[in-house]
Amino acid sequence: MIAPGLVVPRKRGEEVRQDLVDSGLLRVDLEIRHEDDMLVLPLVEGAGAIPPGWGKVVDREFREVPRKGPARYRDLLPWPDEEKALLPRAFDVVGDIVLIRLPAELDDRKVAVGEALLRFVPGARLVGLDHGVHGSDRRRTVERVAGSGAWTTRHHENGLELDVDVERAYFSPRLAREHARVAEAVGEGERVYDLCCGVGPFSLTIARGGRAGHITAVDANPVAISLLSATLARYPFRDRITALTAPVEQFLPSAPAVENLVMNLPHEGIKYLPSVARTTAPGGRIFYYEVVPRDGLEQRGTTLVKLLSPTAPFELLERRVVHPYSPGADMVAFVLERAR
Ligand SMILES: C[S@@+](CC[C@H](N)C(=O)[O-])C[C@H]1O[C@@H](n2cnc3c(N)ncnc32)[C@H](O)[C@@H]1O
Repeated sequence: MIAPGLVVPRKRGEEVRQDLVDSGLLRVDLEIRHEDDMLVLPLVEGAGAIPPGWGKVVDREFREVPRKGPARYRDLLPWPDEEKALLPRAFDVVGDIVLIRLPAELDDRKVAVGEALLRFVPGARLVGLDHGVHGSDRRRTVERVAGSGAWTTRHHENGLELDVDVERAYFSPRLAREHARVAEAVGEGERVYDLCCGVGPFSLTIARGGRAGHITAVDANPVAISLLSATLARYPFRDRITALTAPVEQFLPSAPAVENLVMNLPHEGIKYLPSVARTTAPGGRIFYYEVVPRDGLEQRGTTLVKLLSPTAPFELLERRVVHPYSPGADMVAFVLERAR
């Protein structure tokens, strides 16, 4: 079958494949094509603009992945094709909970969609409509449409089992690769502040990596910190992480400077960036996340460096698109290093 695909060098294939999975853009019912030293990764229809730097989009003939059951959850719904066309291709799986965003036109069909997903996703227990995250603690509004039980679950990523409550504390299964990237960047014995840590995926992945000295994880939402503490209690590296319920604006002023600071509060984090900079040791790095309009991406790194310059000279080490956020904007990771 002919479908759009993303051409990437074979050596970057696994990294980009994981980014596409995290972004819900990889088409899993088609096989990846091998073309000399390049791979062509099949994309879901209507994937929209692929972030710059991920690769070139082409049309190719793909073979279907052999599968026992239906290839797509939509195949379980006996609807006319024009109605199936309204169904989103992507959904998220958090532990044994499936979350999906549905267009308003399908509101009266949400239970049927939920039941189809419950049958389709192996091990699924509960299906919820995802109405987005809101407020300063970024809690997700969810609506049960099929299945049973609580919104709490345990989610597996990067070799960890995280306690998650999809309703009462922020968690996204689309950032697994990002958590691992930051963990890989932390040096031997270095200290880390994980600011706005949520249920602690950055802290836990860094601690599991084994090189960090000590990690302090801070979040204003007490539910997030108690979930992190519950996860930590199961791991031998529990003493490497201190989990604190506090607003960052209260924590930062008296905190000693450290070598690594993670700040993942994409819409509001900018207001804390100058105090994050003051808490960065010479030679230390800030891993900062922001939603950036595509046409402003080139300039944004320079603007951030300028914003920090009254505190200290910083250099932009890396700027990476983590995943598309909306048709015109991406979630972007910036790594900023303070001069020694
Ligand atoms: C987008 S989530 C990121 C969670 C986590 N870092 C992750 O990657 O899964 C943002 C988090 O910031 C927390 N938050 C928002 N404002 C805060 C503040 N002023 N001080 C501390 N935490 C805050 C929220 O409670 C939420 O858990």
